[in-house]
Amino acid sequence: MCGIVGYIGSQEAQSILLDGLSKLEYRGYDSAGLAIYNGENIGFCKSQGRLADLKQKLETCLLPGNLGIGHTRWATHGKPSDENAHPHTDEQKMFAVVHNGIIENYAELKEELIAKGHVFTSETDTEVIAKLLSDHWDGSLVSTVQKVVQELRGAYALGIISEYEPDKLVAVRLASPLVIGVGKGENMIASDIPAILKYTRDVYLLDDGDMAVLTPDHVQLMRVDGTPIERETIQITWDVKQAEKDGYDHFMLKEINEQPRAIRDTLAGRIKKGRVDLSNELSISKEDLKNFERIHFVACGTAYHAGMIGKYVLEKLVRIPVEVDVASEYRYREPIVNERTLFVAISQSGETADTLAALKEAKRQGARILAITNVVGSSVAREADEVIITWAGPEIAVASTKAYTSQLIAVYLLGIYFAQMLETQSEQQLQTWVEELLQLPDKAASLLQPEQVEKVESYAREMSKHSSLFFIGRGLDYAVALEGSLKLKEISYIHSEAYAAGELKHGTLALIEEDVPVIALSTQKVLAEKTVSNVQEVKARGAYVLGVTNEADAELSKTADELISIPATLDLFAPVLAVIPLQLFAYYACLQRGFDVDKPRNLAKSVTVE
Ligand code: M6R
Repeated sequence: MCGIVGYIGSQEAQSILLDGLSKLEYRGYDSAGLAIYNGENIGFCKSQGRLADLKQKLETCLLPGNLGIGHTRWATHGKPSDENAHPHTDEQKMFAVVHNGIIENYAELKEELIAKGHVFTSETDTEVIAKLLSDHWDGSLVSTVQKVVQELRGAYALGIISEYEPDKLVAVRLASPLVIGVGKGENMIASDIPAILKYTRDVYLLDDGDMAVLTPDHVQLMRVDGTPIERETIQITWDVKQAEKDGYDHFMLKEINEQPRAIRDTLAGRIKKGRVDLSNELSISKEDLKNFERIHFVACGTAYHAGMIGKYVLEKLVRIPVEVDVASEYRYREPIVNERTLFVAISQSGETADTLAALKEAKRQGARILAITNVVGSSVAREADEVIITWAGPEIAVASTKAYTSQLIAVYLLGIYFAQMLETQSEQQLQTWVEELLQLPDKAASLLQPEQVEKVESYAREMSKHSSLFFIGRGLDYAVALEGSLKLKEISYIHSEAYAAGELKHGTLALIEEDVPVIALSTQKVLAEKTVSNVQEVKARGAYVLGVTNEADAELSKTADELISIPATLDLFAPVLAVIPLQLFAYYACLQRGFDVDKPRNLAKSVTVE
């Protein structure tokens, strides 16, 4: 996601800011910019694209000075562009602001500021902060910032400089990380430690509601209401490489652990007064919805598995027939598509060539296009009529984890939203689903507790000694089995197959013999008995069975050799939880076999060829 760096001292800020931003590149971004005070005024340089593009621009617009802020932006409000890149400023360019996070009430603040005559030049939520600073200026940078943040709702880490008081760099944190680096005759701010490690290892970590005022020789910490804070600096002992991964050994493990946050962020702002509200994002009306006679989910790989869940969810909740296709097959089967088709493309990157080609074909035939993607301004998002962003944050590991669970959340939100509109479910049922959706971040977090993870790790170490492994499940569990199997193949290179549990006896059961490992999922109450019968079939042939089930399900625990319990939840939402141990299983199987977790052989993060 976005990155922040700020510097105040006696060295040239430009190279320090650029160097700091380069250490944050791993977070993913689509534009970058700097604002530096040159002794008279604040100079700005911003560019869409990579830091290299910004550096090229800087060759023609040098920014000298010893006080500055820099930013790498991962687009949220507004497409990636020079105008939307940070830092943002007011009309007189007296302030410069960089911001990570989302200002939830920016639309109403913007409206008020426009009514007062302010002119906006970007589509961002951040620009309201710059305009508010100028609007509320009271002769003191600290007290003006304090006034402004009182009006903001949402999450923010802010870096602010002003021509009025060019001896200060002000930082504020609420629900978005920010650290202060303490140097000799110079001080820095950053959204993540790697950006400042080259200059200092002494840092203050800001808590929510903290504010810091930096001069070259001093850092003053206070709460945003002005109450002073006494705090010790901490000494960073890790190296940059580790820090980029927040101390995790691999991006995949970091991203698995980010799932509670990613789920929470994908839900944020979309549930209001107990109801799903996507009206800010989607323009599909009740009439449009009534007019759709079919829905097509189209995607690749992990996103396709999310689409399989989407089919189940939409058909159950909305009662419109849904088909789900792998994108590379879609165009060639001559699907029935017309203006009464809602085509839903799911893509983490938004750049997958197969998905994009299928989308364009459906569009050409008149379908309404809805994209579920993790990247604002991606090709899939740009081609679509409607977009739902999954707020998983940049996913670096090739094996998709947090993007998948966020896609599931998007699909649930869509299903419930449509069901509300068409009144296909009772109010009470809808409310039960909404309440349980809100519990999922905590339930996901419980699966990441050390004792749970260690258990999965020990099964993975043992079972990864085998050359072949099976995943079985029925209904939604079958879709999760496919995802677990893909994860395992992708990074551990163990041959694995996922089967609808009831289908085994139609052929594949022939492969089950003494000691063959089978992972059996049983999270769907109505299917539990049937799944247990299928587990008994493989047990009778000597299979070693690891069961994955909800805590309450006793049947599977009697049949399986080992059991992983997931927290109790409604059957509909079990995939979000059941997949987490399977992701961890694949991760530890890969470690056991000594392969590259984040960059598996032959695979790319974004597949831009058909
Ligand atoms: O970026 P997309 O979601 O469109 O990518 C689709 C697949 O290439 C992707 O999910 C792939 O299957 C993952 N590497 C699986 O972990």
